[in-house]
Amino acid sequence: MQKVLVVFGTRPETIKMAPVILELRRRPDVRTIVCVTGQHRDMLDDALKVFGIVPDHDLNIMRPGQTLAGMTSAILSQLTPVIEEVRPSRVLVHGDTTTTYAASVASFYLGTPVGHVEAGLRTGNMMAPWPEEFNRRSVDMFADLLWAPTERSARTLLDEGSPSANVLVTGNTVVDAILLVTDKIRRDDALRARLWEGLPRLDPAKKLVLVTGHRRESFGGGLAEMCEALNQLAAREEIEIVWPVHPNPNVVATVRERLSRRSNIHLTAPMEYLAFAALMLKANFIISDSGGIQEEAPTLNIPVLVTRNETERPEAVSAGTAKLVGTSAGRILGAAYELLDDPAVYKKMAESPNPFGDGRAAVRIVDSLIARDRAA
Ligand code: UD1
Ligand code: UDP
Repeated sequence: MQKVLVVFGTRPETIKMAPVILELRRRPDVRTIVCVTGQHRDMLDDALKVFGIVPDHDLNIMRPGQTLAGMTSAILSQLTPVIEEVRPSRVLVHGDTTTTYAASVASFYLGTPVGHVEAGLRTGNMMAPWPEEFNRRSVDMFADLLWAPTERSARTLLDEGSPSANVLVTGNTVVDAILLVTDKIRRDDALRARLWEGLPRLDPAKKLVLVTGHRRESFGGGLAEMCEALNQLAAREEIEIVWPVHPNPNVVATVRERLSRRSNIHLTAPMEYLAFAALMLKANFIISDSGGIQEEAPTLNIPVLVTRNETERPEAVSAGTAKLVGTSAGRILGAAYELLDDPAVYKKMAESPNPFGDGRAAVRIVDSLIARDRAA
């Protein structure tokens, strides 16, 4: 029997690994063990609950205002004995967080093969996003199963020298996840009503602009500019803005201090995934630097203004759903006004094709994993 140890630690990894774990658990020949690092705490627990995943191991490493070195060393030292105890045939990691990096290194030191979900994303700039570009490049140097969400990410891996037998285009598992939860929301009237109860009271006649922001390279200046843009945008009466604020102390401090106390700006705690998905379904457009949201927006046909200078997901920009608007208030505001005032621009962005897959990424990943490790 194949034994797979799945390691993750943050909200987006949970959302994007959940479809893979659910699919692994459907396969009789695989034993799946879940280890969370607890790099995130409340946000991780919320996401686990949505998918009914109960971890077998929890390293519980989160500390308020934690450092990259502190997290990396805690994960390396605490995950190593778990891998030694479980003795998996393979470790699975996702994306580009500190958990991804440290879990891969711990596995590498023990000679355990690593499979990387969402491999091959690159901006080409080691400092943006920081430290994620370094993390994902590091894992892709030695993981021997590289699941690329798109043809473009697969090509990047091949150009870097990864053997073609190790690379498979699967689509992004976030599409599997968002389709799963939005389908649930659409079918279940009682669930929808319960989710709406917990959300800020919104005027249905107004246009909802949903906002998130958390990138380390935007701390200080970039986030302050976003706030300035939103303060000006909120002067328009037909708008309502909702921002579920990421709990990173650097984000909370800037956002709470700089956003004006207007009745059409709602700051909330991070939302659990079902509630956030329900809100996305109502959004007119999204302003965000989130990786996952850039991938979900085209699935839901919602334009997204990406408050970054570079993206490792250029597919959404090429397809038309996402626009890179940087972090200056003027550019953010200009793009927002264009979406509000020019129906042709809005329609073109909203109706662009989804480049991130068909919702069957997890099946492809698990099929290839089983085939590879059975042969080994
Ligand atoms: C991390 C990832 C980033 C990912 C993001 C998703 C790294 C280096 N960064 O950034 O790639 O895009 O998660 O959200 O891996 N906190 C809480 N509760 C939580 C989570 C965080 O209070 O549930 C606070 C803590 O004070 C914590 C701080 O946020 O120390 C920072 O968390 P951390 O995981 O280091 O960084 P993120 O900004 O969340
Ligand atoms: N998300 C959520 N609640 C929120 C904000 C975001 O569930 O309040 C979801 C979002 O739909 C996406 C994921 O969290 O699936 C993105 O996480 P985040 O932006 O923290 O990280 P990134 O994707 O940038 O690494």
